[in-house]
This record gives sequence, C-alpha cells and structure tokens, in this order.
Amino acid sequence: MTTATGSRIVSVGHYQPARVLTNDDLAQMVDTNDEWIRDRVGVVTRRIADNETVADMAAAAAEKALAGSGLTAADIDLVAVATCSSVDRCPNVATRVAAKLGIAAPGAYDINTACSGFSYALGTADHAIRAGAARNVIVIGAEKLSDFTDWTDRATCIIFGDGAGAAVVTAADEPAIGPVVWGSAPEKGETVRIEGWRPYIQQEGQAVFRWATTAIAPIARQACERAGVAPEEIAAFIGHQANARIIDGIAKRLGMPQAVIVKDIVESGNTSAASVPLALSKLVERREVPSGAPVLLVGFGGGLTYAGQVVRCP
Ligand code: COA
Repeated sequence: MTTATGSRIVSVGHYQPARVLTNDDLAQMVDTNDEWIRDRVGVVTRRIADNETVADMAAAAAEKALAGSGLTAADIDLVAVATCSSVDRCPNVATRVAAKLGIAAPGAYDINTACSGFSYALGTADHAIRAGAARNVIVIGAEKLSDFTDWTDRATCIIFGDGAGAAVVTAADEPAIGPVVWGSAPEKGETVRIEGWRPYIQQEGQAVFRWATTAIAPIARQACERAGVAPEEIAAFIGHQANARIIDGIAKRLGMPQAVIVKDIVESGNTSAASVPLALSKLVERREVPSGAPVLLVGFGGGLTYAGQVVRCP
C-alpha cells in the first residue's frame, strides 16, 4: 500500500434509537424539571436504546456512511470505533461492525478516550492513511450510556443519551483532515468515572465544567493554527455536546463570527464519543454549511482527555 499526502471525510451517517425520553419523562422519575435541565444543561430530549447494542448502533451508522461514499465493504481496510460503553470486553465493537457489514479482513480496533474518542479515532485514521497502513477507513463513535446510567441520580441521568455517528475516510492528495491536537489531564481523571465495582456514570460536574470552559478553547485554537485556518474562517463548530453553556463558552473565547455553533445536545443529550460524529452527520444532512468548508471538531471528557481537528465538510 502506498502512503498518501492526506485524507478526507467522504461521507457521514448516523443512527439514533427510536425511543425519545423527554425532560418531563425524567421529572416523573427523579426530582427535576424541564426548566432546570434546559437552563443548566441545554437538553430537551435524548434517545434511549432498547434492544440495540453499541455494535448494532455503530454498524447502522457505518452502513449509512458507507452507502453515501461510493465505496463498498470490499474497499474498507480499517474500522476504528470510539466507545466507552461497550459491555463486552471481547470481541471488540470494530470486528462486530465489520462482521455485520461484510467487511472481510480489515484492521479493526476500539479506542476508549470517552467523549473525545471520535477525534482521537479520526486522528489515527488520518495517520494510518498517511503511513500507508490503510486506504479507506470507517471511523465510528457509538455509545449506549443508558446501560451505565443511575436512573435515581438526578445529577447525571438527565444528561446522557444513546446513539452513533460514522464517517468514511479515504486517502486524498489535498489534506482535508487537519492535524489532530490531542492530550489529557490525568491528574483530574477521577472527576468522571464509570468504575467496574459501581458501573454507573459518576462525575464532579462543577470541576469538569470549570476545566472544560478554561482548558478547551486553547486546544481548539491550536487545532485551527495547525490546520492553517483562522477561527474567523470556521464555518461550523462542533464541540462535544456535554453542556450548551460549555459549547457557548468555548465558542465565545475562540471568536468564530461566521460559524454555525452546533447544539445537537438539545435533541440528543450527551452521547459521549458519538456526540461529535452524530452532530456532524446531521449538519451535513441539513446542508447547513457548503462542502469543503472548514468545520472545527473538539471532543473532551473522561480521562480527562481531549482532541480536536479542523476537517473539510464532506
Ligand atoms: N434538577 C434540578 N436540580 C438539580 C438537578 C436536577 N437534575 N441536579 C442538580 N440540581 C440542583 C443541585 O442539587 C443544586 O442545588 P442547591 O443549590 O440547592 O444545592 C443546584 O441544582 C446546582 O447544582 P450544580 O451541581 O451546582 O449544578 P451545575 O450548574 O454545576 O450543573 C452539570 C450540573 C452537571 C449540568 C454541570 O456541572 C456540567 O455540565 N458539568 C460538566 C459535565 C461534563 O461536561 N461532563 C463531561 C463528561 S462527558
């Protein structure tokens, strides 16, 4: 296989379960209300998987992305899945996706960096293509966080949702996926946890909020710089859909007057590694920004980890 100058996202797809859980539904379950959730977090509805597994949702999103790519399963040589909520330790989600889509012998790995996972996985796909280790990659973010939600804890159960988003990435002469900026703050790692002995999401919300609203804007700025794109030129900003106030805070600090500030959190909640590709797929579906326009992706979350890059809209 030959190395390539760069890579690009050719097509995207997403999948969300049919069941909608509203804020009013949650108010029947815990002591909360629609107004508090809208004001403090920005979520109005989220989707909850019933029978679907992480792999089912990942495969459904990937199938749609593949259908729009002009490629077939036979062309795919790498599947990378970002997830932190797959219940099974083995086999991984990537090989299950490959089996469901009939991709015969791809490289197949899962990445767990929680909510920043899609940008990490997209970075590794770009690197693999540039190194000549792959030519056509499916990159997926998929989560079933409802399996790890304590439905009696109002501080967390109002935030999360289930879903998946996927992108087909291929070699390109003109790089259309900017260099990934990634890193972590391990000393703050205990502020978001899903521990084996108590397998529910626990988080120190205010500590994460403070970190996200101060640490992430400089990372996003670096991602723009490394792509050679000024924040003023960004056509859409897709931050991790953790909290609408965090998204607004980052956007304000960066200064992106042209950008559509994407808030899929309103209808989907926080879907961890799925949030960025889900929002990107919907943005493309709505044709809200032109093909080729620069879109800033930035994920952050458990670890605490972060990653971001500027991509050209498919
Ligand atoms: N409904 C109603 N009231 C609630 C509530 C709910 N679901 N959850 C908490 N409250 C109450 C609290 O008990 C508290 O009441 P008090 O003032 O009487 O003590 C008050 O609302 C404020 O709680 P607080 O925890 O300070 O809220 P907050 O404004 O920090 O919002 C988060 C909580 C979790 C939404 C917010 O901190 C956040 O988004 N953090 C970042 C999370 C994140 O990005 N995680 C990334 C991992 S993916």
